[in-house]
Amino acid sequence: MTTTADITALVRAAKEKAYRETNDEPEPKATGPHEWPVEATIGKGLEGAPACDTSVGYVNGAKGWLVYRGLNCFELAENSTYEETAFLLLFGHLPKRAELDAFREKIRRHSPLSPETRRVLEFVPTGTVHPMSSLRTAVSVQGTLDPRADDTSIENETEIAIHLIAQISTLTGAIARIRKGQKPIDPDPTLSHAANLIYMMTGTKPDPVMERAMDISLILHADHGMNASTFTTMVVNSSLSDMYGSVVAGIASLKGPLHGGANEMVLYDLEEIGSPDNVEAWFKKAQETKRKVMGFGHRVYKAYDPRARIFGPLAGVLCTRDQEVKRLYDIAVKLDALVCAQLGEKKIFPNVDFYSGLIYRAMGIETAMFTPIFAVSRVAGWTARALEYLADNRIFRPRAIYLGPISAPYVPVDKR
Ligand code: COA
Repeated sequence: MTTTADITALVRAAKEKAYRETNDEPEPKATGPHEWPVEATIGKGLEGAPACDTSVGYVNGAKGWLVYRGLNCFELAENSTYEETAFLLLFGHLPKRAELDAFREKIRRHSPLSPETRRVLEFVPTGTVHPMSSLRTAVSVQGTLDPRADDTSIENETEIAIHLIAQISTLTGAIARIRKGQKPIDPDPTLSHAANLIYMMTGTKPDPVMERAMDISLILHADHGMNASTFTTMVVNSSLSDMYGSVVAGIASLKGPLHGGANEMVLYDLEEIGSPDNVEAWFKKAQETKRKVMGFGHRVYKAYDPRARIFGPLAGVLCTRDQEVKRLYDIAVKLDALVCAQLGEKKIFPNVDFYSGLIYRAMGIETAMFTPIFAVSRVAGWTARALEYLADNRIFRPRAIYLGPISAPYVPVDKR
């Protein structure tokens, strides 16, 4: 029988392996004091473009390290909880006992689902609408219910951030159940954020191993540099729009299959492959048709993604509990080896999304709910960075390189 101590040992082993393998890599230039404006070589999609200063978190793509407020994500996954990590991201330090208790209490107070939001979620068609669209709608409704939504002071936006950290978990639980024609379940104030999420989605209180696995997953998804959804949230907030609208935009960005949506696409791919015996033929065809293998590659990591270092072995332990999930896991392991062997030279390795979905599947969660779980966690990073930027705000405003004509003649409508 696997225990939580086994899970912690697994994380520690992944950490030690990562430290052994990566310690000598040189630091990239994206750290340390500097003056604005900075010089940079900018690629398409703002690749390599520094957009702001931050102390929230840092991705070292050469080493394959992820740091929140100075703490390596391996240390947090091994020792911390999501509540503690969210506090760390928002307030810049690990909470003292009293601070953590107060933060947890606040999350509890902000967790219940309002009757208005529940009515809206029940109104959204369940068969055709993606849960991320339901979540986006529900967070938008939350903004209309808060009389202080337009108070963009840092104090008020911090309160909204905590409200959203609490609410996005409850909303995800409610969406998971309403989709299946079930009634939403109230959060249980005695449970951790991770356990409550599983409980509200599945109706079953998780055993300590599944709770710990979800907690680790929430910790590892909480922040990740200037990814598309974080940047989107910050761009909206930088116009001094309200925090609800900024997070709505973040959710919309995260939904895409090139970003958070990749975790569910991975499961669809594994189901399509069907058996470990079909992996080679499937991958060959994917290469021939230039189809990207979901859950692989990264804009920043040119080394193994540290989150995948943990999620791979974690999935290995959890997926043995069910034959069907084990079959999908076996396909994943074979695909992982094949892609690394063939594309490793191009620095393409599994990313955060490759094994996370298998972990959720082992918890009995349906595939379409994987990306909302990502949002449950990432809201901490979105709001922490939006708040940090707000303290020294300057509206984001890059430029495009114009390729069209400069002085075309105006032709009246009847003469076109
Ligand atoms: N499968 C196969 N080839 C891949 C690949 C993948 N998942 N990801 C990147 N590549 C290849 C590209 O085809 C390209 O090859 P080329 O130089 O021969 O044309 C090269 O690697 C660079 O890829 P590119 O798409 O330009 O990188 P990017 O930085 O713009 O995109 C991702 C990064 C994450 C969007 C991209 O790797 C991807 O689409 N991955 C799959 C989706 C995914 O897992 N997203 C979650 C990210 S956490």
